[in-house]
Amino acid sequence: MSSGIHKVGVIGIGLMGSGIAQVAATQGFDTVVVDVSSDIVERGMKRIQDSLDRLVESHRKSSGEKGIDGARRDRILSLIHPSIERESLLDREILIEAVIENEAAKKEVIAALTGMGYRGIFVSNTSSISITRLGSSYALPDQFMGMHFMNPVPVQPGCELIRGFLTSEQTWQTVVAFCRELGKEAILAEDKAGFGINRMFVPFLAEAVKVVEEGVMSCEDADKTTLCLGHKMGPITTLDYVGLDTTLAIAEVLEKELGPSYRPPTLLRRLVETGSNGIKNGRGFYIWEGGKKVRVNPAVERYRRK
Ligand code: NAI
Repeated sequence: MSSGIHKVGVIGIGLMGSGIAQVAATQGFDTVVVDVSSDIVERGMKRIQDSLDRLVESHRKSSGEKGIDGARRDRILSLIHPSIERESLLDREILIEAVIENEAAKKEVIAALTGMGYRGIFVSNTSSISITRLGSSYALPDQFMGMHFMNPVPVQPGCELIRGFLTSEQTWQTVVAFCRELGKEAILAEDKAGFGINRMFVPFLAEAVKVVEEGVMSCEDADKTTLCLGHKMGPITTLDYVGLDTTLAIAEVLEKELGPSYRPPTLLRRLVETGSNGIKNGRGFYIWEGGKKVRVNPAVERYRRK
């Protein structure tokens, strides 16, 4: 089945929105991507440009076996239309919401687009917030569902699809088809706290933080443990990639909906409270410079829960 979708809108050009826009354009979809300010849009477009440039470099180094050539990069970029005007989203057949993990912010965006008359399919890239609750802000909750992409979007092969309480069978089938057209394996889940992936994964990351804050292991050693499981990236580095603010927001939803044993670790909360959000601002469990890890954040080294 074909989704019948040609025109895609992405809301938010942060870590995830930029990756989603890149993947949609790479698969030939005409893609509008909107954020709140020109500076942020410029930064997001630079992230996309850098990511495509890396693929062109890989093409060159592998004598054309991997990556993409310069002409293809330019074609992909020509399909991405960045904007700060929500109006530019109104003619889209699907909107993918990828703003910060905050229920009020997401609902405001969904309700605003409803108010402006948007009536296509609407999906949210939320990591943990109830799809049914978000869908209640849309005029057509039967055309609303979750599309939870993995980070980094251009690299990760899977996408978790979440059906809300009111999502129609037709919307579900269309989005499953669209997900495949994006080249992603559809992983199906129902609308329960954390869905499937973060229900398993965020408690694992939180436990890794507790191992560090209790002084059981250093950040570096905690990171090495998953090598034994065949994971390339350790849990502490993964936290810096995902974003400490985003992980904390997900952990708070799990605690609220599943109980106190899911309470986020204090060290994670302290880091977020002091503005250490991970790679995106150069400071998380590690200090990052030019995309490279340079040392453990001294605040983390000092912190030990008694
Ligand atoms: P981010 O902080 O990198 O980007 C969020 C973007 O949303 C920012 O550019 C911000 O300016 C923009 N934004 C905020 N309010 C807006 C509005 N009203 N209209 C338009 N844009 C607005 O966050 P990230 O990591 O990209 O997360 C976005 C969503 O994706 C969250 O729901 C998160 O839970 C989810 N997600 C994140 C993953 C990760 O590894 N970081 C993985 C999978 C899902």
